Amino acid sequence: MPLGNMNNAMPDAAGPAPTTLSKEAEILAALGKRLIVLVGMMGAGKSTIGRRLAARLNLPFVDADTEIEAAAGMTIPEIFELHGEPHFRDGEARVIARLLDAEPAVLATGGGSFMREETRRRIAEKAVSIWLKADPDIIMRRVRRRADRPLLQTADPAATVSRLLSEREPVYQRADLTIASRDIPHDKIVEECIEALKARLSPAAAGPPAIDTLSAAR
Ligand code: S3P
Repeated sequence: MPLGNMNNAMPDAAGPAPTTLSKEAEILAALGKRLIVLVGMMGAGKSTIGRRLAARLNLPFVDADTEIEAAAGMTIPEIFELHGEPHFRDGEARVIARLLDAEPAVLATGGGSFMREETRRRIAEKAVSIWLKADPDIIMRRVRRRADRPLLQTADPAATVSRLLSEREPVYQRADLTIASRDIPHDKIVEECIEALKARLSPAAAGPPAIDTLSAAR
């Protein structure tokens, strides 16, 4: 007899054992139709962490910058150069709105997109957001490797990053969750995202009720 059937046949005075879902399954169930959106500065690791987080949750990974480039039929530096930043920002907001209306996924957004109020509102409605918070030196080390960020083509990119951070951090802070992105193995950051999502989304993870029922009954 297969083991499963044998277990079913066993008398169980205490009733069926409670089923325990994996952390991933709990998160997915609690997410429902919502997406997970990663926000934060260029170089914070949104795409790298996002791709791994998506794999862990068995969700598709979508990169807003890649989608914008596909929709425009040109690269981001080309959009900035030919049409300017305001045009890029409008397109970015439209593409993110469309992605938020699509299937649940892990969505990495471009570093400036969360600055638009309308985009923040849409993200709050349709997603759980995670700010990947990185220090300026880590950001600089990572962005130096590539020359495809038009905003950093300045005489003093470190000063630009520091100015952008002071403008943006108070806004990034409004994301639902904050995870420090640092130079540790990516899987550790992904694990921290999983734990934070679980604590935020799953009522079982919230622990016992805060009210002391005994003294409340007195
Ligand atoms: C930008 C960040 C970039 C890209 C564009 C503008 C920004 O995306 O959208 O160059 O304003 O911070 P990443 O954050 O993915 O680098």
